[in-house]
Amino acid sequence: VKENNVLFVIFGGSGDLAHRKLYPALFQLYLKGFLNEHFAVIGTARRPWTHDFFRQGVLENLDEGTNEQQQEFAGHFYYQSHDVKDSDHYVALKKVIDQLDEKYQLNGNRLFYMAMAPALFGTIAQHLKSENLLSNEGYNRLIIEKPFGHDYPSALALNQAIVDTFDRNQVFRIDHYLGKEMVQNIPYLRFGNPFLTSVWNKDYIDNVQITLAESLGVEERAGYYETAGALRDMVQNHIMQIIAMLTFPKPEQYTDDEINQAKSKVFASLPVYSETDVAEKFVRGQYDENADGSQKAYRHEDKIDPKSNVETFVAGEIDLNLPEWQGIPFYVRTGKRLAAKNTCIDIVFKSDVANLFSDQKLENPVLTIEVQPESGVLLTVNGKKIGTSNVVETHQLTDLLDDDQQKQVPDAYERLLLEAILGKQGNFAQWEGMAGSWHFVDAIRDAWAKDSQPDFPNYQSGTMGPKAADALLAKTGRHWIYQGK
Ligand code: BG6
Repeated sequence: VKENNVLFVIFGGSGDLAHRKLYPALFQLYLKGFLNEHFAVIGTARRPWTHDFFRQGVLENLDEGTNEQQQEFAGHFYYQSHDVKDSDHYVALKKVIDQLDEKYQLNGNRLFYMAMAPALFGTIAQHLKSENLLSNEGYNRLIIEKPFGHDYPSALALNQAIVDTFDRNQVFRIDHYLGKEMVQNIPYLRFGNPFLTSVWNKDYIDNVQITLAESLGVEERAGYYETAGALRDMVQNHIMQIIAMLTFPKPEQYTDDEINQAKSKVFASLPVYSETDVAEKFVRGQYDENADGSQKAYRHEDKIDPKSNVETFVAGEIDLNLPEWQGIPFYVRTGKRLAAKNTCIDIVFKSDVANLFSDQKLENPVLTIEVQPESGVLLTVNGKKIGTSNVVETHQLTDLLDDDQQKQVPDAYERLLLEAILGKQGNFAQWEGMAGSWHFVDAIRDAWAKDSQPDFPNYQSGTMGPKAADALLAKTGRHWIYQGK
């Protein structure tokens, strides 16, 4: 393991994301040696904190390593009170940056992380340039988090504000699903096994199902969620990235550039649905209370509009305009307060390609990629029932990580931060992809906006969503493979 010399400047350094995700992730990189002596972290926010107070907060979120390691790590953290709209504050920040660069010999390598409201991304980026916070030696990189806009025009404006200052190869857009072990594993499954590569297309696959089910409700995020809803919160980004990982055409080489180019072909092939398409292919839902009334309906949650029409559930069919996938539906589904927290991908194969046992109905073989909470692969295949009869039945081959292996799986943020330090773009969202998926999502939202009185709430908390989501598949004789555990 080689140590990396780098300075992190975290805008929104006092916030929840930074404390819950970023600092523990950096600590893991420290424990593993990717960060060692030559790194520093500046947290900025408006509050007037001291370094010590800041470090205390960092320490509270670390639960591994020895006390000594934790203290040493936290010693690399500095706090700078900062108003992102005030030019003078950038002058002050630059002083701290230069001092730390020299103190820790950081070679001018700078990672700016925007862990705050996207409306401020442009302002920060402009000031970084105009007030000379970018170094001339080493690298300058920008890490941003969603939401990247709330529709295509706002995403475009946001992107423009950023690329005015940073080249595209300096911008790292986090989609934390791209940091999950089994999502990163998809290309290895697809292209590491010629027997799978050869059936990974419309000739052998009947349909693909992607479920991102959550058991939690809106929690403390009413303000954000009321402006987002499930389609923008989960489909526009995470689900689309998973689709791209499942379908990108085989690149010549497995390099970051080629993967991203291949993925952009998928995003470009997303349909723009008409109102009729949306009515036929998409279902939205909002949770009601659960069976015993112990969980509230969405409209009764704290700070939620009692008449809110925001969707907490979406299911839909996505048809890609790619020759390899023509006619194969990608069924996607996500929602809050569902029966379980589970992310899984079911590749449902055709059952009738060569049925020798024509007197018996063969089930569809299914390759299930379990993303979370368990990680691994299940293969459901047809086989012979044990005994003297000639009956076909399904068998399951299971390869799930055991507890020890699961412990070795790095957290998504740990992995993505390391990749940003190493300058590897392969697991970050690119602008072309975002543009394509915003066009797709905007068409659905426009159609929904025409019917502003959906029949909400329409699913009970603790179930797998509204009945219409089952009907979506049932009309072609299909069903959701994952039924909620
Ligand atoms: C976030 C969404 O992007 O992903 C949240 O904003 C959601 O609403 C979360 O809960 C789910 O992430 P994970 O890693 O817990 O599946």
